[in-house]
Amino acid sequence: MSRPEVGIEPGQRIAILSAAVADGIAAGEVVDRPAAVVKELAENAIDAGAARIDVRVEAAGQGLIEVVDDGHGIRPVDLPVAFARHATSKLRALDDLRSIRTLGFRGEALASIAAVAEVEAVSRSRDGGGGFRVRIHGGELLTAEPAGCSAGTRLTVERLFFNTPARLKFLKQPATENAVISRLVGELALGNPTIAFSLEVDGRRVIETPGIGDLRATFAAVYDSETATAMLAVDESSVRGLISPPALHRGTRDHVVVLVNGRRIQHRNLVFAIEQAYRGLREPDRFPLAVLNVLVDPAEVDVNVHPTKREVRFRNEGAVFAALERACYRALRQSPLYELQASAGGPLLELRETAIVSSAPVTSHPPPQGEKGLDGPRLPPLTYVGQLLNGYLVAEAPDAVVLIDQHAAHERVLFDRILQRLEGGEPASQLLLIPHDLDLTPAQLAAFQQQASWLQVLGFEGELFGPHTIRLRAAPSDMPEGRVQRVLDLILTDLAGDRTPDRRLRETAALIACHSAVRFGDAMSPEAARQLLSSLALTAEPISCPHGRPTTLILPDDQLRRLFKRP
Ligand SMILES: Nc1ncnc2c1ncn2[C@@H]1O[C@H](COP(=O)(O)OP(=O)(O)OP(=O)(O)O)[C@@H](O)[C@H]1O
Ligand SMILES: [Mg+2]
Repeated sequence: MSRPEVGIEPGQRIAILSAAVADGIAAGEVVDRPAAVVKELAENAIDAGAARIDVRVEAAGQGLIEVVDDGHGIRPVDLPVAFARHATSKLRALDDLRSIRTLGFRGEALASIAAVAEVEAVSRSRDGGGGFRVRIHGGELLTAEPAGCSAGTRLTVERLFFNTPARLKFLKQPATENAVISRLVGELALGNPTIAFSLEVDGRRVIETPGIGDLRATFAAVYDSETATAMLAVDESSVRGLISPPALHRGTRDHVVVLVNGRRIQHRNLVFAIEQAYRGLREPDRFPLAVLNVLVDPAEVDVNVHPTKREVRFRNEGAVFAALERACYRALRQSPLYELQASAGGPLLELRETAIVSSAPVTSHPPPQGEKGLDGPRLPPLTYVGQLLNGYLVAEAPDAVVLIDQHAAHERVLFDRILQRLEGGEPASQLLLIPHDLDLTPAQLAAFQQQASWLQVLGFEGELFGPHTIRLRAAPSDMPEGRVQRVLDLILTDLAGDRTPDRRLRETAALIACHSAVRFGDAMSPEAARQLLSSLALTAEPISCPHGRPTTLILPDDQLRRLFKRP
């Protein structure tokens, strides 16, 4: 469309950006396939404060794309202008980008769509006044007239790409284009649980979300309720959402949805941050499901990087990466405490999650000063009874028999201790009785030399002793000497090629803890077992090991009585 005069008429909200501002905005291809049209129209509806967005698609988007919303609408004076290039109500000066909260800001989308299709827009503003309709074909404004309609906006796009045969040629099979559209609408719905979305493809309802502000309910509508129930909540000040427990995974990364201030973005590094939290919990080539909204001060993130607005740049990406990884890590470690409970409807007993909060931990000592807040599920007071099958510790709690996985429990105790030391920068190492000579691969050797200071933080000390050999003199304290070589071998393999090992503090602590802990199958002396139980009760998260597996199983007396059919 021709460029109308710069400036705003009375009552007009949408204005054409000045050339200087327009030139400062990342420009380029906006609409390359039907899903891009759906995205732009739905994002406009979200920006308009809609509570309901209904999307209808026919013939894979080439027949029809219709988006109806109940948002604030567009005034008659604004409606024709909305289709001009650089026409927007969301931004006036480039500086506004620093505080932008809307998904749109370029004033490009409607113009780009109207240039390559036959478009009709009908809208009525919530401010009052009547409805209005415009029709634009291939960028030409054909009609602009009053029209009866309810408050909100309906955009209809037909014969998409009719005048750009090249783009038509690049479209994939209808089933593929439909799948891309479904995925897109699903992601928009997950990013906006307060909005009720529906998607109809060739007359078939594909998505319908409740829009009641509940992410899990939205997730159930987009996926299924079983998957939604299994998802773990991530609820930190700057990261909110759902991630799958380790046992739930998919074969592609397509189910990881990262949003920044509600905007769906593509960001390989942030997806990697999420995957990092699953280290040791995940099979290779299997990927988690996640919907995570990262909340960042708009001034800290640049959204004006790419024409499709899918990429962003952070002022401090490291901090965002760390916050995301930490939030997922915490959510994954909230493994439940299991208890034998009566099943809902029948006489059977089943293991269910519980959140037992005991009055006092097993030792009557208060937690040492500076110990982290004890806010997770706590263990009841335990009296040690004995060891079974060289793997389980048995303890008595008030009115319950308690079984503890000795390896998982010891891992938890060591992990907390090691992490505290690493975070506090106080390595604790033990001199080895006899120095160990280790043969390394060239990559491991390089890692050993490049990461010497990090290895020292962990407690490993040694030097080169031949072209492929190092002589190790000290290892982390708490680590049985017989396991030192194996652990260093694993750490060096891990380190090869990694320039930022300190990002993996927790994973490294978990690895050292796992290899230092008493094994499942080792006999334990009563003193050692008692010591372990008291140390476990003092940890911040006694109910799970660092890999998220439970440490403890509670068999309450009343349930055991039922099982033995005692009156
Ligand atoms: N569904 C809608 N409800 C209310 N206003 C709308 C709607 N769709 C578009 N508009 C108005 O039309 C203007 C132009 O929309 P358009 O999508 O072209 O640009 P934008 O959203 O401002 O920026 P972007 O190109 O980044 O999407 C918007 O700024 C908004 O004022
Ligand atoms: Mg827009």
